[in-house]
Amino acid sequence: EYYRCGKDTRTGKEGCVVPVQMIKDGTLKAIKKFKVQPDDIFVASFPKCGTTWVQEIVYLIMTDLNFGKASEKVMETRFPYLEYPYPGLASVVKQPSPRFIKTHLPLEFLPDDTLSAKVIYITRNPKDTVVSYFHFSRMLAFSSYQGSFEEFSRKFKKDELPYCPFFGHVNSFVKEKDNPNLLIITYEELTRNPAEVIRKIGKFLDKPLSDSDVELLVEHTSFSRMAANPSVNYSHWDEFGIRNKGEENFMRKGKVGDWRNYFSEKSNNEFESWVKENNRTGFNFEFDV
Ligand code: A3P
Repeated sequence: EYYRCGKDTRTGKEGCVVPVQMIKDGTLKAIKKFKVQPDDIFVASFPKCGTTWVQEIVYLIMTDLNFGKASEKVMETRFPYLEYPYPGLASVVKQPSPRFIKTHLPLEFLPDDTLSAKVIYITRNPKDTVVSYFHFSRMLAFSSYQGSFEEFSRKFKKDELPYCPFFGHVNSFVKEKDNPNLLIITYEELTRNPAEVIRKIGKFLDKPLSDSDVELLVEHTSFSRMAANPSVNYSHWDEFGIRNKGEENFMRKGKVGDWRNYFSEKSNNEFESWVKENNRTGFNFEFDV
């Protein structure tokens, strides 16, 4: 059961679709009161925008490219997901500093002083995002989405899926784009020029990278390497029955423009009108690279 929490037409606050459970059990309130430390590092995103990719880059930069350490534990343990019951808020809190924090919540749902820490926000064009989200929702056992892509895309546009509204989410971060503690990157630029974006992330985290560091990171975080890497590819979900095995892998395709294989001309036109009407982020999403 999901609920659009915090929507307020009077103040223009967009709110966010979250599981009712997160409201009932106090998770959202606890997160709002979470004590941010200045050396915390957040990777924030709307789901399916390249979160895991950026998490691996950030983790390696902050551990001075300790590839061995990165391979020992899965991403969920190394870089816990703030609002998710597993491994839970307690595991976020008790990490040694610098603490790594993944979140899909919009900025308004995070502590008021979140930007006293460093935050990297990754976004992606909404067409590829919805395609990736569709496959993910089919694959995830507890959602086991059965409907068509068209139906899923309609739900996305009507803000009925977890973490919607998409543009409200993007906007919550883009509003703060001039804050020096926020770095906004896109899936498309990371695809087009991984070396440049990785270097930018290093600089942002006060960890300047040599050319050979950058080269190693580009190689290690390429789609094919990450798809084959059990510490980042979520293959451990199989052991816990979290994944519907007949469906796509978490590391599915890793492409910009895969939406072309899913949108008919009609649904594409409708989607574009929706983008025009709803994208008040000032952000020019790239739909191809
Ligand atoms: P696709 O389903 O389009 O393949 P998130 O980590 O936010 O859940 O995002 C998952 C999406 O990012 C999936 O997209 C996944 O394949 C893609 N992805 C993950 N690592 C990647 C990498 N190293 N290079 C390119 N895409 C990657």
